[in-house]
Amino acid sequence: MVDRGKPEQSSSRQSHTLDRKRVYTSQFNARVISPDLPENVMIFDTTLRDGEQTPGIALSIEDKVQIANALSDLGVDVIEAGFPTSSSGEREAIRKIVDQGLQSRVCGLARCNKKDIDAALDCGLDYIHTFIATSDCHLQYKLKMTREEVRGRAVEAIEYAKSHGVTVEFSCEDATRTDLDFLKEMHLAVQEAGVDKINVPDTVGTISPAAMEYLIGELMTVTKVPIAVHCHDDFGLAVANSLSAVRAGARQVHVTMNGLGERAGNAALEETVLGLMAFYNVGTNIETRMIGPTSRLVAKLTGYPVPPIKAIVGNNAFAHESGIHVHGVLGAPSTYEAFGPELVGVQRSIVMGKHTGAHSVRTKLAEYGVDMDDGQINLVVDRIKRLADSGKEVDDAELVALASHILGERESEKVKLKEFAVFTGMNITPTAVVSIEVNGERKTGSATGIGPVDAAINAIKLVMGNDISLVEYRLNAITGGSDALCEVSVRVARNGGKTIMSVGKAIGSDIVQTSVDSTMEALDRLYCRKKE
Ligand code: KIV
Ligand code: ZN
Repeated sequence: MVDRGKPEQSSSRQSHTLDRKRVYTSQFNARVISPDLPENVMIFDTTLRDGEQTPGIALSIEDKVQIANALSDLGVDVIEAGFPTSSSGEREAIRKIVDQGLQSRVCGLARCNKKDIDAALDCGLDYIHTFIATSDCHLQYKLKMTREEVRGRAVEAIEYAKSHGVTVEFSCEDATRTDLDFLKEMHLAVQEAGVDKINVPDTVGTISPAAMEYLIGELMTVTKVPIAVHCHDDFGLAVANSLSAVRAGARQVHVTMNGLGERAGNAALEETVLGLMAFYNVGTNIETRMIGPTSRLVAKLTGYPVPPIKAIVGNNAFAHESGIHVHGVLGAPSTYEAFGPELVGVQRSIVMGKHTGAHSVRTKLAEYGVDMDDGQINLVVDRIKRLADSGKEVDDAELVALASHILGERESEKVKLKEFAVFTGMNITPTAVVSIEVNGERKTGSATGIGPVDAAINAIKLVMGNDISLVEYRLNAITGGSDALCEVSVRVARNGGKTIMSVGKAIGSDIVQTSVDSTMEALDRLYCRKKE
């Protein structure tokens, strides 16, 4: 039977390595780089399978298709799209992903049985990842099978899948707690059966980086097909273990976006890819600038926010608060950044707090076109520190409000909301009408949107002119219940030749009205600016 799988790495993919001038890592890394490291490692993304097994995540078919497209654009080599046998919805999602004709290869998970493999084939997949547990613990308590039975089952499943001409990757589940001789026997047996790639899962995240290097080194002595590695983060070592596996010979790593996955999650794609590039000089096909946008999309669709202190994609990963750090970074980013945020498609931010200095305040206010003399800046710094000492955060909207107050701006509203209505319900396109007075001149307009907030903001943008755009919209529930108070912060930009930013914030019990109020505040501030 002919293998109908696509070649391992599509030639149209461009391998990405780091421009060494733009990463500021320790010089000692270079001293331990092994000459045997490969130029490239393949990225097998399991966000849509292991990631979807994260407690609390259930993606719709449309969400899965959207994420698969994003992962393909990001440059992952293989997308594990799901576990076909699990439900008819899962099969429909996988079929749709296959139909997208993505650049990435699409794979499905199957246990070592005919039913699971048929379910994968039935989805049109040409790449199957099949697995069976091999540790004594799993054999005794879960499978209640002997080693011989497990080996027989794996061989049978691989021969069956291969007889359909598909690419087959095989995993000994709980490999890192499996007896080494038996693990080697399994590798030999499945190779004999025609497997294309063997994955080594650290299913319960229990191995150390040094032990992983040892294990992969041992397995390399009997394994002729490429070795992959699949690490869980129970000890926070999933990425370190994946990097060690590559050092010892693994040529593919299983990862998930934002480190989603069972229990403590899997090796995070963003950390693994940057680690391979920065520490080992090993390339991947990942377009690193797409990492930030893809991470945000996955967080939005899974409903799993990225923790602020998460490496690379967390909100604080490139945020600087202390005066010393801000001063350093603004002079030379390498002082307090390992690489620039633009490399991974995110932005640097300067955060106001009790360690803030005048330099940070001046730079931050300049983003919003606010210019102050030294005395005024010192007044702002003083106020920020007092607020921070009393436990209050100072976000951009509050900072600009503070500065406006000190500058004596906004005595008269230049942009006033005169009328506002929104129509929404079932089987009706949300539509908003607004009437706004700008410098005494009344303007009215209406627009539709995907929801009432979107319609309202679209109507405001229409009335205010096309050079106004909404850069950021944040909604926080302050209290619980259907009558909860919410807080909306917005950042708007006006691009009349050069971008000018403004911020607004409002609190209320009606999300639509509160969104309108915060947007109006941002716009008014934009128009009240003395330097306009
Ligand atoms: O963690 C694991 O062992 C898995 C297998 C299905 C490879 O996810
Ligand atoms: Zn797993």
